[in-house]
Amino acid sequence: MRWAFGVGVRFVRSVSERAHPRSLPPRVEEAVKDKLKRSTERLRRGRGGDGISRKGSSRVDGVRSMSAVEVLNAEIAVLRSVGLPEGVESVTDPETARYVTLPGGSPHEATAGVVPNPDLNTGPWHVHSYISGERNSGYHRASVHFRFSFSNLYPREPPDVHILSVCHHALVDDDKEVSSLFYHPENLPAKRIGMTKEKEKIFCTSDVAKNNSSDTSGIEFLEYDLRSVLVAARSFLSKPLLIPGDQSDKLVAHHRKHLGEQWQSAASMNERRDEIIDKYLVDKAGGGPKDARLFSKHGWPREFFHPTLLNVLEEIQEKDALEPMNRATRMNIIKNLCREEAPGIYSFPMLTPEACSALITEIEHFSSDQVSLPVRRPNSMNNHGVVINEMGMERAVDWLQENILQKIAEALYPDQGGGCLTSHHSFVVQYKEGLDLGLDMHTDDADVTFNACLGKEFEASGLTFCGVLGADVKKGNAPHRKVTALYAHEVGRCVAHLGAHRHGADDLIYGERLNLIVWNQSSTYRASDAYRWRDVPEETEAPDPKCLSFTHDKDFGTYKKYPPNVDGDALKSNAWYPPSEEYVKMK
Ligand SMILES: [Fe+2]
Repeated sequence: MRWAFGVGVRFVRSVSERAHPRSLPPRVEEAVKDKLKRSTERLRRGRGGDGISRKGSSRVDGVRSMSAVEVLNAEIAVLRSVGLPEGVESVTDPETARYVTLPGGSPHEATAGVVPNPDLNTGPWHVHSYISGERNSGYHRASVHFRFSFSNLYPREPPDVHILSVCHHALVDDDKEVSSLFYHPENLPAKRIGMTKEKEKIFCTSDVAKNNSSDTSGIEFLEYDLRSVLVAARSFLSKPLLIPGDQSDKLVAHHRKHLGEQWQSAASMNERRDEIIDKYLVDKAGGGPKDARLFSKHGWPREFFHPTLLNVLEEIQEKDALEPMNRATRMNIIKNLCREEAPGIYSFPMLTPEACSALITEIEHFSSDQVSLPVRRPNSMNNHGVVINEMGMERAVDWLQENILQKIAEALYPDQGGGCLTSHHSFVVQYKEGLDLGLDMHTDDADVTFNACLGKEFEASGLTFCGVLGADVKKGNAPHRKVTALYAHEVGRCVAHLGAHRHGADDLIYGERLNLIVWNQSSTYRASDAYRWRDVPEETEAPDPKCLSFTHDKDFGTYKKYPPNVDGDALKSNAWYPPSEEYVKMK
């Protein structure tokens, strides 16, 4: 059995097969991949195959030395005593990952998703840091949340780097991982280089870049240090990464220019976003926030949460402090809180009337002419509402995710990364006569979704659930387009489901409804084969009309008439379900 972190196979993958930004010219990516692959494969061989023999120690030369986490702790202590690099606001202590991914090995074995970490002593360890870019870089107004994940091969393997906060950047992919270009020696220099023939000889950092750009023969190992990683992360926010190659080569020069333009465009977009938040929170546009408690990075006050929820969370905290609970025990506690509406769909009391009222007041104020700032709408389907991350609540929702939502999701959806949620897209949707009345069937760009009703007064307006996309029908799961549940919203109550669970908002009959929705993503789940190779099984029976989507289903017109004022032909050309043969594998 091979685990995704901490072994040689992962080492090669982590450096040479990182997700690629869609914007980088493919030939450049290939060149970087090839260069790194040759270098890292040699390193892997030098370490003795699959790396298991190195368990617990960061060195392989037979000399007992510090383990990866000992190295990290020592480096962090030094950084804190001498001062963090410029632009680095904070660095946390290493935190052992409680969940890891289990690779399936091939698309046909891709059943492995997120599993509890089988050996907490061998990492990986996450270090979180808030970093801002240089002045006028576009990333200088607000610090960016980095997560560095270190395997037990550190310092001879660089950490995986994710940007968990909302950040417009040309070289961060949809799953929050930075481009493989980040790890090129010209962008992330190693601290030390060791040579096969002269083991004792250690070269300085500048030689590493020189060596890797030409002849890398004789390299036995590279070693990294946290300071260099932090400096490289700040540089990532301050200027475009260097594309390796000869500047006199026209193609290289072209790619550098292209990347520079894309970098600048994303940086400008990021700065505009931060400006809007600053105008509201710092410059107090329109008087600023109505309730500053909603924006606190230390979380919303206790009086915002239902007492039953607080009791259950306290019970979980107490029991986890004694020893990590197994799934069954965790689920038993959560059962005291959640009502199972249907398989995979749960609801629970979450927010008090005070919290609902505060959120509605804040959203309405932010959207008003008095404040007069650009309002970002929730997504491509909701025309009304506000993305609350874009009005300055992101850090508060970080707290909500870590301290409340994740604890519930850990029990309900462990296989999809419920216990290791890392980022979110959070928004309030609004349904009202004259605005949107309901929402077409869809799945969310989320691994786990939480949807809490805030009010106001309304009639009808529930959620219709169908099946989970990719669920195995042979194992008794409902088909994707068969009705499984009708859920009626209650003010203050939250419904939880997988993002892949097809659902739609029924039309409102009367009144107005606002809901707080948090789309949660898990970078651990998204790195797993279970996520990457999700199958979309063929339908064996006709879909339920209620589960059809005029936006997403190519065959909608076969079963139903398109709604009035909808261009069926245009929608059909963009629809994707059922997927074509070549896209049956979703990634
Ligand atoms: Fe949704």
